This record gives sequence, structure tokens and C-alpha cells, in this order.
Amino acid sequence: MAVELILGQVLHFAADPFAEGLEAARIETRGGVLVEAGRIVAVGAADALRAAHPGARITDLGAALLSAGFVDAHAHYPQTGIIASWGKRLIDWLNTYTFPEEMRFADPAHAAAVAARYLDLVLAHGTTTVASFCTSHPESVDALFAAAEARGMRIAAGKTCMDRNAPPGLCDTAGRAHDESAALIARWHGRGRLVYAITPRFAPTSTPEQLDALGTLWAEHPTCLMQTHLSEQTEELDWVRALYPEARDYLDVYERAGLLGPGALFGHCIHLTGRERMRLRETGAALIHCPTSNAFIGSGLFDMAGLTAEGQRVGLATDTGGGSSFSMLRTMAAAYEICQLRGRALHPAELWWLATAGGARAMGMADRIGNLAPGMEADLIALDLASTQAIAQRSARAETFWEAVFPTIMMGDDRAIAGVWVNGQRLRPAEAPRG
Ligand code: GUN
Ligand code: ZN
Repeated sequence: MAVELILGQVLHFAADPFAEGLEAARIETRGGVLVEAGRIVAVGAADALRAAHPGARITDLGAALLSAGFVDAHAHYPQTGIIASWGKRLIDWLNTYTFPEEMRFADPAHAAAVAARYLDLVLAHGTTTVASFCTSHPESVDALFAAAEARGMRIAAGKTCMDRNAPPGLCDTAGRAHDESAALIARWHGRGRLVYAITPRFAPTSTPEQLDALGTLWAEHPTCLMQTHLSEQTEELDWVRALYPEARDYLDVYERAGLLGPGALFGHCIHLTGRERMRLRETGAALIHCPTSNAFIGSGLFDMAGLTAEGQRVGLATDTGGGSSFSMLRTMAAAYEICQLRGRALHPAELWWLATAGGARAMGMADRIGNLAPGMEADLIALDLASTQAIAQRSARAETFWEAVFPTIMMGDDRAIAGVWVNGQRLRPAEAPRG
């Protein structure tokens, strides 16, 4: 099996910079990553790695930044075709744009075409792992997992379950949600790099019976993830209160159904009560920040500073297509801007950690992806830190590593992605088309 030594500026993390400080980020300015049989074998100084592995094939990328591939911890691949749809808030946006589009996934050929387009788009943007919602059609899950398997990607996905407050063509029942999800788990969960995520859309589109059925299913399959939405927009909170008057709060709706615990990923988490924050932390659930979506749909300002300070597990995500970009660079920029509006400047090391290791930790995959370290799966990217004239003229003046990286975070897009490796295989440009 060929051994490849990739050379560049290597960025990796010894720990969580929110917990351990910025020294947790490690930089090898003339570094290398040694890859063999889909795994990272060594990370270190280029010269030392060259000397120790004289037989390795060298891929020298000069000043390119080498990082773990981005992890997008919350997305809706079926919404690829309606990204950037104008003028609505959450509930109208769902009814006007999302549900009609999701109806089209009853056609397996349509699902297969969008799944392939979506994964090629995210790879072109340097994202090697996603946690994606599908539609309520099991075929939409088959389409995404098949497309991910063909590309060798580690992803999580699941059938989006709804049994009320959505068009009849998208609704299942409590029993069907359980049984169809169970059949998909049997078919896909743990196959190669694929992980099943039990996926109730959100409290308003499920009956308590459906949430209970999915809680039972999760108890039967505890190695699955569970993904849903929590506390995104104020109108939604009012709706949840009316639909679930017995619940102490929004999170309690999920908790009562057995849908809270490690491996639960809650998208948005903007308008949380103190009790909800306490229970999220105590139970080891993950909060997934979707900053372009929160700005685009007008949902609110995630409390990144407060939530990370209290030790929550936070991931970062595009929320395609409520979010307005496939790019985790653009998503980091939006996270920075939202945090600025709340009075704290996130450091580029913190942003990068959220977009890689933080997302991997949220998805329970921190021992496999999201970082460059021996033994990890070789999902990595190379970034050109001077990919456009605007970025190049700014990074040319940089006096520190982070000052050279930050313009790419704030202004970069798929043009900054100079190379993508999935499971140790470099994608040819034809396999990573420009977005
Ligand atoms: N809440 C329930 N469904 C959705 C969705 O598809 N997108 C977003 N942003 N929020 C949701
Ligand atoms: Zn979402």
C-alpha cells in the first residue's frame, strides 16, 4: 500500500481551545502528514518525516494549510436546490419553500441526483463529514448513504420523521417512523463509514406518540445518533408551548420521549432557558450552531461565549438550505460576526476547532475524524491562504500565522480548497467540482 507524505503548514489540535486555551492549537509551519491505507500514520516536521520515511511519495503543497476536513454537523441535503430562497421566517419558509421541495424526493432518481450534487458540492468546499437530515422518504436516505459510500465519506444521516403539521405527502405515522427508521438502521448503520441518525424533524411536526416511538428506537439502537431542532425562532417556541402544554420547556418535550443524551445533536439552541442549558450539559448532548441560517432566517444570536464557558459541547454547521452557504469558511465567518454582536471576538483557532474537531466531538467521532493525529482516518484538506486577490493582498501583510489564516476564514470560499483527501484518497479535481 502506497505511503503518501503531504507537506505544508499543518494545523492540528492537542485539546479543545475553549477549555484549554489557544495553546491547544498546534502549528507546524514546515510540516507534514503521513498517510497510509486510509489512516494518518504521523504528523510532524517535514524534514524529520522525510528522513524517517524515505520511500513515501511526496506531495509538496508549499505554504498551503493542511487541516482535518471540515465537519458540518447539521444540514438538510434535500434543501440543496432551494438554498438562498428569499424573504421568509422559519415557519413560512418551511411551508413555502422546504416542504414542496422535499415532496420531490418521493422520486428516487431525483433523490440520487441531488445527493450526488450535494456531496460533490460539500467536498468542493472542503467538508468531508456531514450530519444531514433527509426527507421522510426512506429512498432519500438510501440515496444519500449510497452516494457517500461511493465517495468513501464518513457521514451521518436519517429519515426525517413527521406525522403532523406538514403536507400529507411528507407525513408518516408513529409506527411507520419507527419501522422505516429501523429498516434503514439495519441497512446502513455501521456499514463502512456510515452512521444512522434517528431524526424527528422537530417537536411541532411530531405527535408525542411519534417522539416516544423514536425514543424507544434510540434505546434499541444506542450507537445511533439522534438529530433534531431546538429553540430556533420565537414563533416556534410559542407553537411548541401550545402543542405541549405539559412540558416544562422545549427541551423537556424531547427529554420526556427519551431523546436526550450523549449522541443527541440539537440544531440552533438560541433561546434556551437556564434549565435547558443545565440538562443539555448534564446529559452530554451537543448544541449545533448554524450562524448563516440564524442570520438568514432571522432567528437570533447564539450565545457561543456563554455556552462554551459553561462546558457545553458545541458544533458548527451550515444548516443548508436555511443556511445560505455550503462553505464552512463562510460559516466560521458568520459565527465570528454573531459572536461579535454579543461582545466577544472568537479567535481563529476557536473557529477552526469548531469547524473540525468540535463537530467531530459533537457527532461522537472525535477519535476518528476532525483532527490530524496518528491513528485518525485520513480525511484532510489543503487550503490556499491566498486564493483570491482580496485575500492575498491582506494575508501578504500578515505577521503571524493566525493573521495569515483569518482573511481566508472571513473571505474564503471553495476557491481556497486546494486539495481534499477522503479516507486517504486524494480527490481528483473532476471529483471535486467547483461550487
Ligand atoms: N426547523 C424544522 N425544520 C427545519 C428546517 O428544515 N430548517 C431549519 N432551519 N429549521 C427547521
Ligand atoms: Zn435544520
